[in-house]
Amino acid sequence: MCGIVGFTGEQNAAPVLLDGLKKLEYRGYDSAGIACMYNGEISVIKASGRIANLCERTDDGRSVQGQAGIGHTRWATHGAPTEENAHPHLSNDGRFAVVHNGIIENYLTLREELIRDGYHFDSETDTEVIVHLIEMYYRGDMREALAKTTNRLSGSYALGVICTEEPGRLYAVREASPLILGIGIGENFFASDVTALVSHTRNVIYLDDGEFAELTPDSVQIFDITGRTIDKKITRISWNVQAAEKGGFEHFMLKEIMEQPGAVKATIAPRVRDGRIVFDELTIDREILSGIRKIVITACGSAYYAGCAGRYALERLCRIPVETELASELRYSDPLIDAHTLLIVISQSGETADTIAAMKECKARGARTLAIVNVVGSSVAKLADDTVYTWAGPEIAVATTKGYTTQVTALYMLALYFADQLGLAGDAYAELLKALQQLPRRIQQAIDMNASIPALAKKYHKSKALFFIGRNTDYAVALEGALKMKEISYLHSEAYAAGELKHGTIALIEDHQPVIALCCNPHIMEKTLSNIVEVKARGAEVLALTFRNNHKILAEADDLLFIPDMDPLFSAVIEIVPLQLLAYYVAKENGCDIDKPKNLAKSVTVE
Ligand code: G6P
Repeated sequence: MCGIVGFTGEQNAAPVLLDGLKKLEYRGYDSAGIACMYNGEISVIKASGRIANLCERTDDGRSVQGQAGIGHTRWATHGAPTEENAHPHLSNDGRFAVVHNGIIENYLTLREELIRDGYHFDSETDTEVIVHLIEMYYRGDMREALAKTTNRLSGSYALGVICTEEPGRLYAVREASPLILGIGIGENFFASDVTALVSHTRNVIYLDDGEFAELTPDSVQIFDITGRTIDKKITRISWNVQAAEKGGFEHFMLKEIMEQPGAVKATIAPRVRDGRIVFDELTIDREILSGIRKIVITACGSAYYAGCAGRYALERLCRIPVETELASELRYSDPLIDAHTLLIVISQSGETADTIAAMKECKARGARTLAIVNVVGSSVAKLADDTVYTWAGPEIAVATTKGYTTQVTALYMLALYFADQLGLAGDAYAELLKALQQLPRRIQQAIDMNASIPALAKKYHKSKALFFIGRNTDYAVALEGALKMKEISYLHSEAYAAGELKHGTIALIEDHQPVIALCCNPHIMEKTLSNIVEVKARGAEVLALTFRNNHKILAEADDLLFIPDMDPLFSAVIEIVPLQLLAYYVAKENGCDIDKPKNLAKSVTVE
């Protein structure tokens, strides 16, 4: 939800800023801009649309002078994605420029006050109040001006600020929006995400809420609102630049689908020792677990669907009731949560605003919190009592793939680990662990055995709507499969619990209506089969996802997607892979911008 970058050093800032913005483009891509300081003046260049437009306008940054600057790529919240509303925003006197990720909730009141005081506004954004407040409070001391300004703001913000009075100096502030400093040699940076930093430096500092930073080419100082210096540790990023590049694939999404065997392995392998699952990072022990009366899983988007898929293994193995709740609903639901509740929070980015709010709400009610997160040091990880990292590596495509599969895998691991702790795993333990360890190989098999997907995409890409049906874990995967399809191909796709068809949805079935039927649950296969027969009798074309030797389904379906034979308890992680590929190739047939679907953003840091 918007990306910000800042650079100060010896080289020309604009090309560095543009390069950083390209890496952050997944966070928002409806307009972009940069501001650089040169000869006591700030020049601001903006363009609506993709970063490519800004590159074109600035000759890839070569036409903009100055060795310090800030940049922004936008996902519009307040005001349309026009050039006027694009950041950076400039103060009326031209001395200050600001970039902002987040939302200023009290901006209307501040705006009215500033207008009364004679400031004029050039945009409809909430952000613009910040730069005018800074101008109003500046009396030769930026730290003081920033402290006074942020004191007036409610909401979330990661800010980057420059001031003509202080050439070569950047200011950054964090409150409930991610912000990371990159520490170089003779140059320093800030960015919303490490992906924008790793090509320059692997040494980073994660700012915490309420922290301010002042950067020059040779120094980085962090301080609080009173100006008191804070000592922070430098973290070394372990992954390299290639991990955040396409590596020969046409899209990040395809690369990330193909990376899933490795990503799932990275989630599992470090946590298996001597035939047992070991979570060194967890502080939940047998005693705490025995006191847990229910588990609530909360998240947004695909992370929520990962929870829906993983809950079956948790319930089956641990015999603890599991509820799944959308974070945006949970936070306002006056939830029945107490100290006997384990709240499992799932988030790839660890920065999703609704997820964080739901987590805070449940923590306040006494819940113990366990986070499943991909981004190290993110807000969710910091808030949680325990964190299990998924180690999927950077995920750039807006539509998550390896993020989802590693989240479900982490839930499977926890299910078996908790069951073991509770003394419930019994003799099945070794077999189940083996099945988990085989998941990376099974994903690769699922990729290899579905070579027909590009051809199927040619058949189905013009459909008006796609219905996904399944029962139990198949239904949970259908939800994610339908979401993948709609978010990148813009086809109307909906998932239904197969047993619910006859309570309404079957009225929509007509000749040649594609129905994607997930049939990977042997104990209810016959039930799903009868739903397939029902929709076929009304003219539907059925694309079934099942095991290769499942003859009954093979006989009824018009087209097929396959998964290898495996333990159905863990099959969600495998079933989703052909559906990801189907969504990818359908979107490709439709000429969609696969990595950056319209209206979406990867990290939704606003409500
Ligand atoms: C956005 C992304 C989804 C993601 C969801 C939750 O909608 O496009 O792919 O599942 O946010 O994000 P999180 O980072 O919390 O997993």
